[in-house]
Amino acid sequence: MLPLLLALLTGAAPTVSASGDGCRVGCPLALAAYYFSAESNLSFIASLFGIADHNKLLPYNPGIVDPNYIVTGERVSVPFPCSCLGLPADPASTFLAGSLPYTLSGGETYDDVASEFANLTTASWLGVTNADPAGKLPAAGKINVTVNCSCGDKRVSPRYGLFLTYPLWEGETLSSVAEQYGFSSPAQLELLRRYNPGIGMDRASGKGIVFVPVKDADGSYRPLESDAGNILSGGAVAGIVIACIIILIAGIWLFAMYYRKQKMRKAIPLTCLEDSVQLSKVSQDEGIKVDRSIEFSYEELSDATNNFSMDHKIGQGGFGSVYYAELRGEKAAIKKMDTKASQEFLNELKILTRVHHTNLVRLIGYCVESCLFLVYEFIENGNLSQHLHGTGYEPLSWTSRVQIALDSARGLEYIHEHTVPVYVHRDIKSANILIDRDLRAKVADFGLTKLSEIGTTSQSLPSLRVVGTFGYMPPEYARYGEVSPKVDVYAFGIVLYELLSAKEAIVRSTEFTDAQGLVYLFEETLSMPNPMEALQEMIDPRLGGDYPIDSAVKIAYLAKSCTHEEPRMRPTMRSVVVALMALSSKDHELTRGHD
Ligand SMILES: Nc1ncnc2c1ncn2[C@@H]1O[C@H](COP(=O)(O)OP(=O)(O)OP(=O)(O)O)[C@@H](O)[C@H]1O
Ligand SMILES: *[C@@H]1O[C@H](CO)[C@@H](O)[C@H](O)[C@H]1NC(C)=O
Ligand SMILES: *[C@@H]1O[C@H](CO)[C@@H](O)[C@H](O)[C@H]1NC(C)=O
Ligand SMILES: *[C@@H]1O[C@H](CO)[C@@H](O)[C@H](O)[C@H]1NC(C)=O
Ligand SMILES: *[C@@H]1O[C@H](CO)[C@@H](O)[C@H](O)[C@H]1NC(C)=O
Ligand SMILES: [Mg+2]
Repeated sequence: MLPLLLALLTGAAPTVSASGDGCRVGCPLALAAYYFSAESNLSFIASLFGIADHNKLLPYNPGIVDPNYIVTGERVSVPFPCSCLGLPADPASTFLAGSLPYTLSGGETYDDVASEFANLTTASWLGVTNADPAGKLPAAGKINVTVNCSCGDKRVSPRYGLFLTYPLWEGETLSSVAEQYGFSSPAQLELLRRYNPGIGMDRASGKGIVFVPVKDADGSYRPLESDAGNILSGGAVAGIVIACIIILIAGIWLFAMYYRKQKMRKAIPLTCLEDSVQLSKVSQDEGIKVDRSIEFSYEELSDATNNFSMDHKIGQGGFGSVYYAELRGEKAAIKKMDTKASQEFLNELKILTRVHHTNLVRLIGYCVESCLFLVYEFIENGNLSQHLHGTGYEPLSWTSRVQIALDSARGLEYIHEHTVPVYVHRDIKSANILIDRDLRAKVADFGLTKLSEIGTTSQSLPSLRVVGTFGYMPPEYARYGEVSPKVDVYAFGIVLYELLSAKEAIVRSTEFTDAQGLVYLFEETLSMPNPMEALQEMIDPRLGGDYPIDSAVKIAYLAKSCTHEEPRMRPTMRSVVVALMALSSKDHELTRGHD
């Protein structure tokens, strides 16, 4: 019964994919990302798309300074109309594409044409969309070059109506392209994933086409056009009526199934489900401890991530890969760990699920079937490193930066002083400070280093393995593996420097300079004859000078004391919190004084 229904459903209501299969209308404008090779020139690219004056391309390419000098490897955006076309062999099979008339020069094959178009189309696609099958081309005839395009999808977002057709090059992935066009936050990546179903975010495919929403020549996103010209034919109406009837039948059937399932649920109490109900009820008011931890089944996690598919992956870190999932109606980040679980490990995990604080990323539960998985609450707005160093985010204001510093300091103070047992994080860095929708910060991954230690050593010797990230490790830890809360204080000092300068913890070497740590850069700055002036040079230019300089100086000196060589000389997180609180309330007064 079910397969039959499904077959009927898919037959009657063709699914519209992002590349526009089953379209009814096109849109006046799409862009093609033409790979600029050593042999290319702008007028040639324009002529391929039937554009006589190559200067017409410039408004879509604000990055091109001089049309006569374009760097090899850059992408040139070329405008073309995106129409709803039918296949010559089967006109009812429609798809969205630009159709560009092309005159063959003697002996050219579809392969030659596809490479002329820098892989914006393929030889086989040219064969399918032209009357002449491949191999039998007239010596100097005309063909239509078909370049796929997208007009957007109202089920995904009404905000985007202009798309770039982007052929992936060797080593490029959907997420690398996303980053390039300012779509790097997890939510934005999620959006791109939905526009490009079937393309893994991080599969280094270097093959195929992806569609990316882009800005119009006027610098803003062009919203989705309402389907104005979308007048339904009689045939379509009949189709829709039939589809509706089938959907209705399917609906009734599904409802019946659901009802039966509900009854079964009542009959067999599922402990996991009951736990989750309790958890979400209690966790509404912050701070109350939840006694029961949650164990997830492998099946549940695998279902929610489409069998840990690439398009659910949101990141990769030192301990494993992270996947996005919706579990029991809650957004979650699932961390698939490389280590295995031991009994000690499980005890530790149970404790971790009970640590609750507004400034700590909550561990919702775990799964130990086949592998070890940690299930965290999903924080929707990316990590601090992405906000400071990535594209696709608005620059953080001074007040947000101070707030983020204070939030993460509070999270750290909590695990240093108020949990039983207390924890040293050992991997504090901007990538482990997650940002929520209100630009408040939460510390991620506390307790993980301890877990990885338990996971990798037998009961014998305590581990001397140093876990952490270069640029954030204090000398005593990097050299001798000496662990104390002051390890986190040092790393937090680096994060403060990052907040001030938006520079990476290790500033990469260039042709003229060696790689340098932020500690060194700031210490040099603060020892200048006029430190205040020198500091202004170091402050993130994206702040646009909009910050109280005396607060910036105070934070720089706070960071300096946090990163003192000698662990004893560094302040505790508690005094860091106090210092930051004073700063944040003073800045508030200042801003209030302004208006
Ligand atoms: N709970 C979460 N909600 C949203 N995104 C998350 C969550 N946990 C991790 N991420 C994202 O997944 C990515 C990978 O995280 P992961 O912790 O594995 O690596 P990392 O933080 O870069 O390095 P490390 O392994 O040293 O912690 C991060 O960039 C982070 O932004
Ligand atoms: C531009 O490139 C085309 C094809 O590679 C070539 O035929 C043409 O001479 C070039 N024009 C200029 C001005 O370089
Ligand atoms: C285009 O695609 C083909 C086949 O995927 C690949 O071999 C080639 O390197 C790509 N690039 C160019 C410039 O043709
Ligand atoms: C263009 O889209 C069609 C239909 O979705 C697809 O079959 C074809 O492979 C695509 N062509 C290219 C070059 O990606
Ligand atoms: C190219 O497309 C036009 C209209 O879209 C059509 O009239 C013409 O026959 C096509 N040419 C070839 C060679 O398929
Ligand atoms: Mg992390």
